[in-house]
Amino acid sequence: MATEDVFHRPLQDLRISVTDRCNFRCVYCMPKEIFGSDYPFLARRELLTFEEITRLTRIFAGLGVRKLRITGGEPLVRKDLPELIEMLASIDGIDDITLTTNASLLPQHARDLVNAGLNRVTVSLDAIDDDVFKAVNDVNYPVGPVLEGIEAASRAGLDPVKVNMVVKRGMNEGQIVPMAEYFRNTPHILRYIEFMDVGNSNGWRLDDVVTAAQIRDELNAVWPIEPLDPNYTGEVASRYRYVDGAGEIGIISSVSEPFCSTCTRARLASQGQLFTCLFAGHGHDLRTPLRDETVDDEQLADIIRGIWRQREDRYSEQRTNETAPLQWKVEMSHVGG
Ligand code: GTP
Ligand code: 5AD
Ligand code: SF4
Ligand code: SF4
Repeated sequence: MATEDVFHRPLQDLRISVTDRCNFRCVYCMPKEIFGSDYPFLARRELLTFEEITRLTRIFAGLGVRKLRITGGEPLVRKDLPELIEMLASIDGIDDITLTTNASLLPQHARDLVNAGLNRVTVSLDAIDDDVFKAVNDVNYPVGPVLEGIEAASRAGLDPVKVNMVVKRGMNEGQIVPMAEYFRNTPHILRYIEFMDVGNSNGWRLDDVVTAAQIRDELNAVWPIEPLDPNYTGEVASRYRYVDGAGEIGIISSVSEPFCSTCTRARLASQGQLFTCLFAGHGHDLRTPLRDETVDDEQLADIIRGIWRQREDRYSEQRTNETAPLQWKVEMSHVGG
């Protein structure tokens, strides 16, 4: 039987963050001033082990989860990630395993990931111009290797690769059309994401959001687009196709047109806290019961069911204009986006 929250949203997707570390310092996600050399990243022993993640995922699958997304930080900086994929792929009920990555380590891992059972990959890339991209990732990382990562994934059978571009005014809005131009006529699906007020450190202001409507208008003026039906209920991206047949794009309007009413996503942070919303102020500690030998799977399932049944989150629909509320929120790099 499906496990439903207060608003009858079933628990269907689990997003698993495997590390809070990343080799990039994207200005809107892990700004250097905050995520510097003295930042208290989690120690190895604090992270859930692959066995612990697998045990929990099996329990989540028993509660109705069908889709997994592996995130970070940058998930490929976690050692031996293909081993985890293989363990997760063997769980009954799981029919889709996806990874969100900055692609810097994808060329050397794509094949192993596919062999282990990875079904799809989403690559974050915020600009096609080297200078703009370097200014965004803030570690002087060029575009070329990311494109190689996308091609490596494609060759390994992960087509279509989805490409996520967070659009922020003053950062990369000039790249909306150039990114479309690059990915038109490829099998890859570019998705534009409205800049969100996640975490506490990205200095979000409503003025910095380039809305879905503005993105649509800008594209329409160059290459007309028309809407496509969603692939499934609750799909985060609104789908469009180029009228001239050059392929598909997506727009993720979490700020201007929120989609909380169909949100079926739970998020597991790397040290075992369960977050019921991307904007949650606190997570529920699952690691303590997980490491308590007197707690069995049935009891863990009861704990998770209890958390989900009380879930009332719909932050993006409640967000008021201008500024985000002043409460503390979990960081994107901690909970994986
Ligand atoms: P598929 O449709 O399965 O391919 O995945 P997806 O589009 O849900 O995946 P992805 O993780 O790439 O989501 C894209 C972006 O949408 C994320 O990076 C977030 O910026 C945003 N997003 C995803 N889920 C949520 C959510 O639950 N709430 C909000 N506010 N934003 C979300
Ligand atoms: N707003 C929207 N998307 C974000 N991401 C990270 N921070 C934000 C934000 N503030 C995206 C990343 C990546 C995914 C994990 O989340 O670019 O694609
Ligand atoms: Fe790393 Fe992705 Fe955050 Fe950039 S957006 S700092 S690549 S986790
Ligand atoms: Fe789900 Fe929270 Fe995002 Fe709304 S804001 S879609 S409830 S994660």
